[in-house]
Amino acid sequence: MPVKPYAHPNGAVAPTIPTQFVPRHVAVVMDGNGRWANQRGLPRNEGHRAGEAALLDVVAGAIEMGIDCVSAYAFSTENWKRSIDEVSFIMKFSVDVLDRQLETLNNWGVRIRWAGRRPKLWKSVIKRLEECEEATKNNTVCTLVMCVNYGGRAEIADAAAALAQDVADGKLKSTSINEKVFQKYLDEPDLPDVDLFLRTSGEQRFSNFLLWQSAYAEMVFMNVLWPDVDRTTLWKAVEEYALRDRRYGGAVDKISK
Ligand code: FPP
Repeated sequence: MPVKPYAHPNGAVAPTIPTQFVPRHVAVVMDGNGRWANQRGLPRNEGHRAGEAALLDVVAGAIEMGIDCVSAYAFSTENWKRSIDEVSFIMKFSVDVLDRQLETLNNWGVRIRWAGRRPKLWKSVIKRLEECEEATKNNTVCTLVMCVNYGGRAEIADAAAALAQDVADGKLKSTSINEKVFQKYLDEPDLPDVDLFLRTSGEQRFSNFLLWQSAYAEMVFMNVLWPDVDRTTLWKAVEEYALRDRRYGGAVDKISK
């Protein structure tokens, strides 16, 4: 039996929101680690270090709210442009975070999945991510997708290449390609579309995160740096999400005839 996550240190409890207004899938851009550290006269890597607890608390808050899936943008296909020192730190840190948090996440019933590209990614990171996927594959409380060496365009381009190969091999007819078929070639095809796209640090960009899956996501931007985030940040974002009118391209005439 999964155990409940630890309580919020200030005793905060999740707001009561009708189930139909709770997002199934939340995409989180954990932005602002570097700025948080530099504001304190610390090197950027200290911001990443401080971000670990924020991620864990957000997962706790997601479980308390009944959110099925959280996708966390940990390292993008563009982050290789950062200094060797920072890239090496994030690679080692990712393995350490998984080492430290696997047991807790597993106890909470969290299924860990990895989305991202293999090329360039450190073998130690791939190995640990795959071990975590295997160790938690039967968990059903919540899914945490660690997006490491992930890029939305790369994911779509890789899917197009695999699909073209299947057409060339005669396994698929080009005339049968549609959105549903295409989606099967993405990294995690069975995950629901993103409902809530949450970015911290005040920046208002997609930054190449879950482009296909976020086609109809509600965007919520919070003016807080990632290390200062906890589950109450997620809850505030969900409260805002719950007030949104999701029309998916549809429209209703509201004047009376
Ligand atoms: C963005 O802030 C944050 C990152 C690039 C890395 C965050 C990663 C973690 C907190 C955990 C990783 C864990 C696993 C298991 C993979 P930024 O550096 O862009 O901040 P800035 O915009 O202030 O410069």
